[in-house]
Amino acid sequence: MSAGNSPIVWNELMEIIIQPTADAATDIAARIIARLLRGKPDAVLGLATGSTPLRLYRKLIAMDLDWSRVTTFNLDEYIGLPREHPQSYHSFMWENLFRHINIAADHIHIPDGNAADIPDFCACYEQQIANVGGIDLQVLGIGTDGHIGFNEPTSSLASRTRIKTLTGQTRLDNARFFGSERDVPHHVITMGIGTIMEARQNLLLAFGPNKARAIAEAVEGPITSINPASILQMHPVVKVCLDEPAASDLQRADYYRWVYAHKPDWQAY
Ligand code: F6R
Repeated sequence: MSAGNSPIVWNELMEIIIQPTADAATDIAARIIARLLRGKPDAVLGLATGSTPLRLYRKLIAMDLDWSRVTTFNLDEYIGLPREHPQSYHSFMWENLFRHINIAADHIHIPDGNAADIPDFCACYEQQIANVGGIDLQVLGIGTDGHIGFNEPTSSLASRTRIKTLTGQTRLDNARFFGSERDVPHHVITMGIGTIMEARQNLLLAFGPNKARAIAEAVEGPITSINPASILQMHPVVKVCLDEPAASDLQRADYYRWVYAHKPDWQAY
């Protein structure tokens, strides 16, 4: 059988891709997304915000892809922050991706942190994802505490889109965007871990030494809600794109490098 033409989704489980730089790791992530969009022009993408995917969005913009039939769902949003606030994830996405591509505005979904009825909004968000047939590929960053989306440690591994309270660590980590920790909202809407696990593919990016411990726990530690990203070990198609500093606590880094260097051509990105 020619694996390259097979309609079978090859379950590679968690694939760890370690590159010398964040730029090189992002190149691979961008190629994976570009390949999806070229093969499935009406793909449904799950998107993340924060510092990690910025380079990815710049690369995708430069690739001049056709986004006209693509649908997107963002992972999370701060509650109570006006949509126009420069640090709202709504502003982030328009500034860093949407205004540069030919996506249809009504295909864009970002949680509404000012919804009058947040539980009802969250249920509708889940329904909207289901209505378009689910997420083909979910882009993820990771918090220094192992959160994905804003599913903080001890989040239910089966959770759905809902309100969450940020930990002190995450508010401290995100104070760099707001100028002071005091201004970082306490509450967010986030897709749940159960929601993320239903994406057909997850693409986790992590760069820099401050992500090393969370990545090592997520990839090589036990599956535990203390490190929510560790649940990805149970997902059938996950790619983890790392720079060397983010990979520096991995016990089996040499093995992952060897596996990646010896992938058959049909599996290369
Ligand atoms: C953002 C999100 C978060 C971030 C994480 C890392 O939409 O879902 O999980 O990915 O907090 O943030 P950065 O990339 O700023 O280190």
